[in-house]
Amino acid sequence: MSVSEKRIVLVTGATGGLGTAMCKKLYDDGYVVVANYRNEEKAIEWQKHLHNEGYDIRIYYADVADYESCGKMIEKIAEEIGHVDVLVNNAGITKDGAFRKMTYENWRAVMATNLDSVFNCTRHVINHMIEKGFGRIINISSVNGQRGQFGQANYSAAKAGMHGFTKTLAMEVANKGVTVNTISPGYIGTDMVMAVKEEVRNQIISQIPIGRLGGTEEVAYLVSFLASEHANFITGANMSINGGQHVY
Ligand code: CAA
Repeated sequence: MSVSEKRIVLVTGATGGLGTAMCKKLYDDGYVVVANYRNEEKAIEWQKHLHNEGYDIRIYYADVADYESCGKMIEKIAEEIGHVDVLVNNAGITKDGAFRKMTYENWRAVMATNLDSVFNCTRHVINHMIEKGFGRIINISSVNGQRGQFGQANYSAAKAGMHGFTKTLAMEVANKGVTVNTISPGYIGTDMVMAVKEEVRNQIISQIPIGRLGGTEEVAYLVSFLASEHANFITGANMSINGGQHVY
């Protein structure tokens, strides 16, 4: 398949643990993979590393918390490669702390990067997807948006908000060939999870019936499936992938 016939996927926050696994899997699936980053130095190193492993991935800067910045990135991708067919809203941060001590800055930072970002990127790609009659929006939420977590009022609110967005947009574009879904991973072996204090983390792992952290590639396989035409009839869904930690 020539590059011009391949579908284009944009993964935000691509240089993190989950993003890297998604980019590799989607590249293996045959997509043109475009990786969004905020930290240029880290992204260049990341790109080189993946190149050495045989992955040819384009990198584009945007601060996903900033609407204009996302617009410029998506316009540049359209000019240089083409319109985005699959958007994975994966960028996210944590600023954990008990709510009674949470600052307004830590509330805003998490809402902006984890939730505003979903609007900021999706708004710039959705009309082209509708025109084409095909598109995929995949929002990476969290088990902690489904059930809450001590110390994560900001993060849980943003992650729960993502799924509210998913449900509504899914209804609005269902008859246009565009699906919108949420994936809610549990605790996966990423730097973000490894930054949780060891004793707290071990206590959390003890509550996961499968008895371990998830693998980044396990989430990547679900992204790959939702992006594919096998998932044409799945929209507005929230898919849990959490080792049984939260069942309902
Ligand atoms: N459950 C119940 N009580 C807790 C608690 C917990 N998990 N953690 C702290 N407390 C209690 C403390 O004992 C203390 O009680 P007293 O006031 O009676 O002494 C009170 O709450 C305040 O404790 P701290 O001052 O330690 O609170 P803090 O604001 O410094 O932060 C915390 C606590 C560091 C956030 C801690 O709760 C924590 O690490 N929680 C886990 C957060 C977490 O799971 N983050 C996930 C990051 S990865 C991710 O988010 C990916 C994903 O999607 C899953």
